[in-house]
Amino acid sequence: MEIQRKLTTTMVIAIMIAALAVSSTMAQGTTEQAKVVKTVKGKKYCTKGWECKSPSIYCCNLTISEYFQVYQFENLFSKRNTPVAQAVGFWDYQAFILAAALFEPQGFGTTGNKTTQMKEIAAFLGHVGSKTSCGYGVATGGPLAWGLCYNKEMSPQQDYCDDYYKLTYPCTPGAAYYGRGAIPIYWNYNYGAAGEALKVDLLSHPEYVEQNATLAFQAAIWRWMTPIKKNQPSAHDAFVGNWKPTKNDTLSKRFPGFGSTLNLLYGDSVCGKGDVDEMNVIISHYLYYLDLLGIGREQAGTNDVLTCAEQELFNPPASPAASKAS
Ligand SMILES: *[C@@H]1O[C@H](CO)[C@@H](O)[C@H](O)[C@H]1NC(C)=O
Ligand SMILES: *[C@@H]1O[C@H](CO)[C@@H](O)[C@H](O)[C@H]1NC(C)=O
Ligand SMILES: *[C@@H]1O[C@H](CO)[C@@H](O)[C@H](O)[C@H]1NC(C)=O
Ligand SMILES: *[C@@H]1O[C@H](CO)[C@@H](O)[C@H](O)[C@H]1NC(C)=O
Repeated sequence: MEIQRKLTTTMVIAIMIAALAVSSTMAQGTTEQAKVVKTVKGKKYCTKGWECKSPSIYCCNLTISEYFQVYQFENLFSKRNTPVAQAVGFWDYQAFILAAALFEPQGFGTTGNKTTQMKEIAAFLGHVGSKTSCGYGVATGGPLAWGLCYNKEMSPQQDYCDDYYKLTYPCTPGAAYYGRGAIPIYWNYNYGAAGEALKVDLLSHPEYVEQNATLAFQAAIWRWMTPIKKNQPSAHDAFVGNWKPTKNDTLSKRFPGFGSTLNLLYGDSVCGKGDVDEMNVIISHYLYYLDLLGIGREQAGTNDVLTCAEQELFNPPASPAASKAS
């Protein structure tokens, strides 16, 4: 009896040691050491493997793949490959990380401490999940389990070609600029601007975005990282707190946080209308992902920062008189 117990204890310890050895080699296999490239005015600039290639203060911190792994991606988007999904087989973890790598040196998922980093990924993917979901009402697994079901707008009613931009972003004959990507982009001028930033000719080939998941994530992260108008923050800056609101912003109830990202990305289609479904469905995805990632929805902050129900718009729609004149 006594011997047997001792043996068992020894075996358990041996198994634990073996398990530890495996997990530490796995960690070494995936974790690259940040390399300090230079120090300017006391600030370190680093690179970190293929994922954070250009020297940046952000590359000294954890990279996304160090705190967000395949199993977490699979948890968040667990229904995306069921037969009823439109984009079966299209979206995967690798495409997301490859796309993110382009923006990690700029602070995407690499700003602040680990909690802040994970919150940004939950927020960005919350937008993604809600915009690509096919989880209507009674879907199994609940309506929040169906993100990344689509990769394009299903029944576009138009080609989204705005002639106002015919000199800067001329439409290619036969091309249609309907919604595509992880946070869908629409219109020739958005395809044009995204294509310039990503160095892919999306004005001639908008269809690339629905053929290539890396590009589909890149276009979405570009939208998240780039101000839509001059003198406005990007959604990223508004979320991580790089953006400091003016007195006017505060009077308009615009605070750094998730609510302002809704305002910047969607304006009057979801914001300033009180507690409406169009807004709540996006927020619900964000909160659900915070829970799944182990951060917890209580980290999302108060309603002031989480929603845009009471916010005035960053971009008020043109007055009827002004739009008549144009
Ligand atoms: C992480 O950073 C945020 C924002 O600066 C801060 O509120 C929070 O307390 C920090 N968390 C930890 C665990 O240090
Ligand atoms: C890097 O991480 C530290 C500690 O978690 C954090 O305080 C710091 O703000 C981060 N650096 C940047 C540039 O965000
Ligand atoms: C998909 O897009 C990425 C990013 O632009 C590019 O590097 C890659 O070569 C593309 N893949 C294919 C199969 O075209
Ligand atoms: C603040 O808002 C008022 C009223 O909308 C506007 O007239 C003023 O120019 C704004 N000030 C700034 C600094 O944006």
